[in-house]
Amino acid sequence: MQGTKAAVKEAHNELVHILVVDDERSICELLEITFRKEGHRVEVAHSVEAAKRKLESQIFDIIISDVRMPGTTGVDLLKFTKEISPNSFFLLITGVPTVETAIAAINSGADRYVIKDHELVDQLRRAVKEVSESLKWKKEAGYLRRELRRLTGLDNIIGQSPKMRAIFDLIQTIAPQTSRVLITGESGTGKELVARAIHENSLRAQAPFITINCGAFPETLLESELFGYMKGAFTGANENRQGLFQAAHGGTLFMDEIGNMSLTMQVKLYRVLQEGKVRPIGSTEEIDVDVRIIAATNKEFEKEIAEGRFREDLYYRLSVIPIQLPALRERREDIPLLARHFLETFRKSMEKPIEGLSPEAVRRLEAYDWPGNVRELENTMERAVALETTGEISLRVLPDRIAGYSSVGVPGGGAAGEPIFPAEGLDFEKEIAETERRYLQAALEKAHGVRTKASDLLKISYRSFRHYAKKHNL
Ligand SMILES: Nc1ncnc2c1ncn2[C@@H]1O[C@H](COP(=O)(O)OP(=O)(O)OP(=O)(O)O)[C@@H](O)[C@H]1O
Ligand SMILES: [Mg+2]
Repeated sequence: MQGTKAAVKEAHNELVHILVVDDERSICELLEITFRKEGHRVEVAHSVEAAKRKLESQIFDIIISDVRMPGTTGVDLLKFTKEISPNSFFLLITGVPTVETAIAAINSGADRYVIKDHELVDQLRRAVKEVSESLKWKKEAGYLRRELRRLTGLDNIIGQSPKMRAIFDLIQTIAPQTSRVLITGESGTGKELVARAIHENSLRAQAPFITINCGAFPETLLESELFGYMKGAFTGANENRQGLFQAAHGGTLFMDEIGNMSLTMQVKLYRVLQEGKVRPIGSTEEIDVDVRIIAATNKEFEKEIAEGRFREDLYYRLSVIPIQLPALRERREDIPLLARHFLETFRKSMEKPIEGLSPEAVRRLEAYDWPGNVRELENTMERAVALETTGEISLRVLPDRIAGYSSVGVPGGGAAGEPIFPAEGLDFEKEIAETERRYLQAALEKAHGVRTKASDLLKISYRSFRHYAKKHNL
């Protein structure tokens, strides 16, 4: 009985890997015995050199080191450790406490500074216990975070902007309910991604998630797709066929491009939503269905309703919870993040050693308006990764409309006609020089290489033109 209890207690204690460094063998022995008894793994080094060798080959949670040792000191070892293993805890112990070593210890980032007196062992035990507890919490927090992410399935929707964070919160809140959701947003903003995330976060996650593109079917076909049909209901109906409502029973039906649904179908859908029953074509029986509807459109409903293309009553039925996805240009801070995400994806699948994006490339991506939103960025990055031959995505592999100089760094180039100004600042001289060079080059091209004509186009004297051309090696 006692044994079991002890074992349980032991299992809850995070065991750590400790390195004890001291030229005084008795101290090493004492600490080794003390911490081994508590179940920790302990290794010993009698010199800084020996300690460094161990640190190079193994990972320690805690290093306990004497300050004064022959040759180099414990403070040197501390600096070495901070470089090679910055997450390790470092406890300095000393038999000769001086203000200087105390200051050096603190300045070099020691986690503790303990004096070798009769309390040494107790103090170190407390410190080790604290470290072991904090490691345990870290581990648990990491585990919980991963678990939560796995459960919420929001991992694959990238975004840090306040607008996207608000959407993540909304998804988490509404997912467990069964209320209908209407997702609106321009093409490529991630409507389908969000619909999936809602399903995966819901209690229906184990049940089917079925997608139908309402814009892709002619009216009669859409009806038979959604509600199913009985054998003989119409020419070609050679057998009974289940509709998507039935197939999605217990789960979620994602009705994409609902704005393209015909008015007659809208009436039929309205009835289904009201009664929770579907009747397959050619059947007299109604079937109960329990389906959560998530609808999406890139049309503006107000306009569709006002112009009589969408039934207002159906709109209200569908939009119990409306989610409006922002266009990418309304959350430019997410662009670098998304670009990196896609770079990561494509460089893996294409097996290319591309480490990152050049600062200019990032700036152009941030400045561009992205009418095709995230999908356009995704395609742009795919192409860039395919074309890039260096270790970094450069301007060269971005499409002209994005990399084009006419849209960058000059008035009229930024989002609202402003020059692009990155958060970390820019090199003004270099920017101006670059702009000069581009205009010069453009003028030369327009003038088919005739320099006097190019200077006319730029409304500068030929002499000035020559000066600039020389400056830029043109
Ligand atoms: N926030 C995001 N993080 C990562 N990938 C995203 C994000 N938003 C969109 N994507 C990706 O962009 C592409 C387009 O997204 P999705 O198909 O969900 O857009 P949509 O709004 O349904 O577009 P459409 O109206 O054209 O159907 C997909 O490949 C999707 O994975
Ligand atoms: Mg879509």
